[in-house]
Amino acid sequence: MSKAMEAIDTANVPDLRTAFDRDPDRLERYVIRQGPIRFDWSKTHLTDELVQSFLALAGDMDFAARRDALFAGEPVNVTEGRAAEHPAERGEGRPESVARARAQHMRMRALIEAIDAGDLGEIRHVLHIGIGGSALGPKLILDALGDGVSRYDVAVVSNVDGTALERAMKGVDPRKTLVAVASKTFTTTETMLNAASAVAWMDEAGVDARSRVIALTAAPEKAVEWGVGEDRILPFAESVGGRYSLWSSIGFPAAIALGWDRFERLLAGAAAMDRHFRQAEPAANAPLIAAFADRYYARALKCQTRALFAYDERLALLPSYLQQLEMESNGKRVTAGGQAVDGPTAPITWGGVGTDAQHAVFQLLHQGTVLMPVEFIASLAPGHSLDPAHHRALLTNCFAQGAALMQGRDNPSDPARAFPGNRPSTTIVLDDVTPEALGALIAFYEHRTFANAVLMGVNPFDQFGVELGKEIARAIEKDGARGFDPSTTALIELI
Ligand code: F6P
Repeated sequence: MSKAMEAIDTANVPDLRTAFDRDPDRLERYVIRQGPIRFDWSKTHLTDELVQSFLALAGDMDFAARRDALFAGEPVNVTEGRAAEHPAERGEGRPESVARARAQHMRMRALIEAIDAGDLGEIRHVLHIGIGGSALGPKLILDALGDGVSRYDVAVVSNVDGTALERAMKGVDPRKTLVAVASKTFTTTETMLNAASAVAWMDEAGVDARSRVIALTAAPEKAVEWGVGEDRILPFAESVGGRYSLWSSIGFPAAIALGWDRFERLLAGAAAMDRHFRQAEPAANAPLIAAFADRYYARALKCQTRALFAYDERLALLPSYLQQLEMESNGKRVTAGGQAVDGPTAPITWGGVGTDAQHAVFQLLHQGTVLMPVEFIASLAPGHSLDPAHHRALLTNCFAQGAALMQGRDNPSDPARAFPGNRPSTTIVLDDVTPEALGALIAFYEHRTFANAVLMGVNPFDQFGVELGKEIARAIEKDGARGFDPSTTALIELI
């Protein structure tokens, strides 16, 4: 174990309740303002000694060189031998990749303009079919920024359960629908089955489905094979990972719904965070400091979960988006070099929306026996025009929760009403949920995930863990209940 790691593992847990008295400048040092976002780690257990130890660990792990390699388009995804070039999609990275992404964006823009101009016939509905990274990002953006701005009615369908697609098609006129099939590989079973059913639905209505289906993919040849005309394919690079792909043509439903200008603003917000991550000094680098806190709680304090609460209805889908980003990226047990990792990797990311969650799960956060870091995400400006009392109540509740977790309350005569306190939280406040702020927020989480991976020595860009279950499902589809344990055999026989 490195010296830095030993220092982290043996660090005392300071009492948060006295942290500000012991260190009057604490607030100033643990608040980072970056563009439209204010990050506050002052109510976490980070101390200057810990930050110094983590900086030493980052040095041991060659953090700066690895970050440079990411932006230089080097094959940082070592197990698959390819680069991870999502930053190039927003204009940051290897010049050739930035130019390629720009050209692909222009192709997407031209197709959107053609659709807007009616070149594909009258379109009122867009059915976006994809799963995982090919659905979660667009869904989050549409939900956060799409209110009242789109001339189209856009639905995202992911689950292979036909109920999802059937619900999305209900009341929708197939003659006025555009289907966007989003799949990096263009082989994902769920997506291809849903796409085939959507095409059948259009065929039944007498629509020439081939003229109304577009493909968003890094495998254009597969889309052609499947029957999509080349001029309706919006490609993106193989080096853009699925869960990092919302910036590419996978963002098509967001771009068509929000309008090109807002989509560009989303990219610009992410690019500003890219530059911050590359250029800010380590002790003032938001994704890096966040990763230090993450590693401290997961590794030194053995916290197995990390909870996130969006105190803004517009960000309600953020926890589920981040579940894929963090758990699929860093839910690993071996290092990039194939050695067993010497400690816990990604905790379980979970969460919900405030204030709803306060009336459901917060009891455990305040008085349960499980310690977990909590993250609050709020916006200073409301997403509605109702009485400002709503937003005041939302924000005061959010900030009160962080204070209550930290302060606790002694009650020796009545233990059921006592609160232990000393429970950590981070508070992230956006000026408003604008395209720029959301782009920056998502890029912050991407880089935080990357920084965590570097500190642990894992590759955040592969996801072999999802393969075995898929393989077995294919075997069941092909050979039925052969060669399985009695429980699985009996279950398969139920089908
Ligand atoms: O099963 C996991 C996964 O590979 C994700 O990483 C990815 O986002 C999702 O499936 C969808 O893949 P595709 O875009 O190739 O359909």
